[in-house]
Amino acid sequence: MIIAIDGPAAAGKGTLARRIAAALGLPYLDTGLLYRAVGRRVLDVGGDPADVEAATTAARSLTDADFQRTDLRGPEADKAASQVASIPAVRAALLDYQRHYGTTKGAVLDGRDIGTIVFPNADVKLFVTASLEARTQRRHAEILGRGELIPIEAVRADLAARDEADRTRAAAPLIQAADATLLDTSNMNADEAFAKALRLVKQKTI
Ligand code: DC
Repeated sequence: MIIAIDGPAAAGKGTLARRIAAALGLPYLDTGLLYRAVGRRVLDVGGDPADVEAATTAARSLTDADFQRTDLRGPEADKAASQVASIPAVRAALLDYQRHYGTTKGAVLDGRDIGTIVFPNADVKLFVTASLEARTQRRHAEILGRGELIPIEAVRADLAARDEADRTRAAAPLIQAADATLLDTSNMNADEAFAKALRLVKQKTI
């Protein structure tokens, strides 16, 4: 069984996807980590994440160790990930890994293009979103929880810029698949969103 969960940054996809995977006994893949790891690799050698050649080379040489890094979150990693994600050759290099991951045992995958490109025939597709304000509050709380200080305005501006870049890029833009179910979590806490998502998954699979 393949469950595709797409949506904008900080909509709560990751938490939801992880909990659904645990509830159903499926592996979980956070596909954003792949793009984050590529961005980091480019930054490591002083490169520009918008440089097609540097980013593509990095995407083709990822290893599992790249996903274990502790510096894949935060503003610099966010921006680099969004930049490398707009490069078609980077996306192409990461496609097989994602498809192979899902087809061995089934999986829950979250990202931006899982239901549209990676698994267009997924058994269940959820498009998880929330208002910019709700996402800003959540992301800000998460950053403070890591012990970092950042003005909330900076978080809001960063999310808005990343949404815009992810939605308007030519390669696999963030878009709700025609057959995906919309789940707006603006007025839900994590438990409510999980309960609702699990109901939707069960409706589609029973
Ligand atoms: O989900 P995330 O915030 O960790 O994703 C980081 C960036 O990677 C995001 O700006 C968009 C990109 N991404 C993508 O283009 N396609 C995916 N399937 C997952 C993430």
